[in-house]
Amino acid sequence: MKSHFMKITPQTTELDLQARPPVARTAAEVRKKVAEARARGQTIGFVPTMGALHAGHLSLIEHAKRRDAFVVVSIYVNPTQFAPQEDLSSYPRPFADDHRKCADAAVDLVFAPTDETMYPPGDETRVQPGALATGLCGPHRPGHFEGVCTVVARLFNLVAPDFACFGQKDAQQALIIQRMVTDLQYPIEIVICPTLREPDGLALSSRNTYLSTDERTQALCLYNALTSGRETLLKGGAAEHATTVMTDAIATSLTADAIDYLVAVDATNLQAVTATTRRVLLVGAIRIGKTRLIDNLLVDLPPQGT
Ligand code: PAJ
Repeated sequence: MKSHFMKITPQTTELDLQARPPVARTAAEVRKKVAEARARGQTIGFVPTMGALHAGHLSLIEHAKRRDAFVVVSIYVNPTQFAPQEDLSSYPRPFADDHRKCADAAVDLVFAPTDETMYPPGDETRVQPGALATGLCGPHRPGHFEGVCTVVARLFNLVAPDFACFGQKDAQQALIIQRMVTDLQYPIEIVICPTLREPDGLALSSRNTYLSTDERTQALCLYNALTSGRETLLKGGAAEHATTVMTDAIATSLTADAIDYLVAVDATNLQAVTATTRRVLLVGAIRIGKTRLIDNLLVDLPPQGT
């Protein structure tokens, strides 16, 4: 049976009904809609999300729309990328709001798969990333990137887009997906879009809704630490020095056990910065109360000897 998430109430207007993009829930439904768009000669753009859409997600959608594509947005809180003690059950799922935001952003198709669509009964195959997943968030979120790769690979197979947009906000995820697409030879262009921030610099995240007012104020220490690291690099300071500066900056706000990591790494491979590194990723993950936040800044090193 075809199911559409939209709840029709006496208040639902004709305009609502017309404006909201269709919702595919199964493999057959999404494949049919995408095939129809292809038959009309359209390029397929894809924005995978876990919903609770904010302006950061919408910026990816806008990017895809600017390319004049048939834009598919997936909304799926993927259980395999959450470790047992993490926030799978409490992760926000405001589907009606998300659907309306997709309508406002002129999304062409929402793919909100059922668990059975993504993980059919008897399912046991997983996509295992390599070295890019071993550092940074890897040790703190066991199985996370395997879950991400597994669901994104499946979404790519179902949607079969020409290009897919990911956020620089999740820098490690973006690199791992780029690697996966190369290694598994998906004919999909991966587009990395810049991080959208609040006016004070806090990176937008669906998890920001967990923060109390005090925690929201405290959360800014991550961005502030990253910007002090950037200043150090731009003044010609070494990567280790930038790491020290960031660690010192954040220590005034957080105790050491609230910091999962805060480092300067080579942006291409997430390894230690070397003499050949041109682009540095300043990257950190912290815990504010029960909320885990990540953020990063990319810094192109000034040419040597200037
Ligand atoms: P989610 O956290 O919902 O993020 C969906 C996409 O939005 C990701 O590519 C993420 O990097 C991007 N994004 C999040 N915050 C952003 C911001 N402030 N600015 C720009 N882009 C931002 O990432 C996931 O979902 C999942 O792991 C997923 C890839 C969907 C697989 O389940």
